[in-house]
Amino acid sequence: MTLTIVVGAQWGDEGKGRIVDLLATKSDIVARYYGGDNAGHTVTVGGEIFKLHLLPSGVVHPHSIGLLGNGMVINPATLLDEMERVRKAGLEINPDRIKISHAAHIITPGHIALDGAREAARGENMIGTTKRGIGPAYNSKVTRSGLRMEDMLDPEAFKEAVYLHIKSVNHQLEKLFGADVLDAAAISKQYQIYAEKLSPYIIEVGEFADQALKKGSIILAEGAQGTLLDLDHGTYPFVTSSTPTAPGALVGLGLGIGSANRVVGVVKAFQTRVGEGPFPTELDGDLAVCLRGTGENDWDEFGTTTGRPRRVGWLDIVLLRYAVRLNGISELALTKLDILSGLESINLCTKYRIGDKITPTLPLGPSNLEGVEAIFEDLPGWKDDLTSIRTWQDLPEAARGYISRIEDLLNVPVKIISVGPERSQVIQR
Ligand code: IMP
Repeated sequence: MTLTIVVGAQWGDEGKGRIVDLLATKSDIVARYYGGDNAGHTVTVGGEIFKLHLLPSGVVHPHSIGLLGNGMVINPATLLDEMERVRKAGLEINPDRIKISHAAHIITPGHIALDGAREAARGENMIGTTKRGIGPAYNSKVTRSGLRMEDMLDPEAFKEAVYLHIKSVNHQLEKLFGADVLDAAAISKQYQIYAEKLSPYIIEVGEFADQALKKGSIILAEGAQGTLLDLDHGTYPFVTSSTPTAPGALVGLGLGIGSANRVVGVVKAFQTRVGEGPFPTELDGDLAVCLRGTGENDWDEFGTTTGRPRRVGWLDIVLLRYAVRLNGISELALTKLDILSGLESINLCTKYRIGDKITPTLPLGPSNLEGVEAIFEDLPGWKDDLTSIRTWQDLPEAARGYISRIEDLLNVPVKIISVGPERSQVIQR
């Protein structure tokens, strides 16, 4: 059995795509298990750069099979568009290569309209969602009124179901939010066409994955978002509506406990966050600009899905301790170490001060971060450019010191270090 789960250990955008890309070279199957097109992974296909939102990013490796698990919420328009774009760039996209769970839920324009209306109604307390309809689609799921991929297998009946769903959403849009209503007839017709196109891809993904594991295939489960955005365990209510943490890979793919034997936690060498919510190590001013970049480069800290500038700060070990525990992280992949080059010193938050108490862990989880004060260790920085370094020994002493300190504080080895945006700019230990 070899199921590796790659999980974001922070607020998403840790650079999981890079690590998945590396690990996918040795995987037979790559899978997304939760979330929807709120995620965005930048990949290169045939020399062209793509932002994949729904397909597992490992599918850029032609030998792999891509799974979209039952935990996902799928916007069929985005998925078909994505499939078409990567097909044009030379990737083989067919039902032998891409398989979608019959139990994944479907996002409609109704969910997207509700996402916008609910955010507007929250006013100052808005979540800062990606407005992709994620929350409302999961809302439909838990209220047992959602549309599932298996409904697409009967396109005529599906059209009717979509029509009724949009009618019901329209009622809410009009009566609760005073918002514009949607054209139920046009949307349901369009969704019937999507159903005809996607039907051949729909299978029981859990059974497929289980059989594959039994035959000795290697599966790579790609987490989207990050630990602190987990609906149960994140900075509630400033979270996404799903389970990006590692246990979600089992539920979201339909695999049993004990299937996973490796959990790679991806950690950016500093901290970033998009959207609202507390952020104890947040920086502003010149230092923030230095870590964020100006947006000119693909790797600068601006949202892949929304283009919003990300908030930035120092690495937070208190939150990472929590992520290690919650996900059962067995090894770490540290990304964007090169961005820290040139700093005189680097701060590492190891504890919090809460009132008159100092604590290395979170007394009540990360939803209670308001007012906590980060306590920092001050570590020496380094001047050297790291982007052409490929071995641990060649890293400047201060960079090795920074990583070793992270390992000591978390008691988990850092096995992969990325030092630039290119595939080759990586150090493996
Ligand atoms: P939603 O998932 O669109 O409902 O957004 C809820 C929160 O999760 C917002 O703060 C988003 O900015 C954040 N979020 C959702 N997806 C991602 C992601 O892929 N990376 C980083 N933040 C995300």
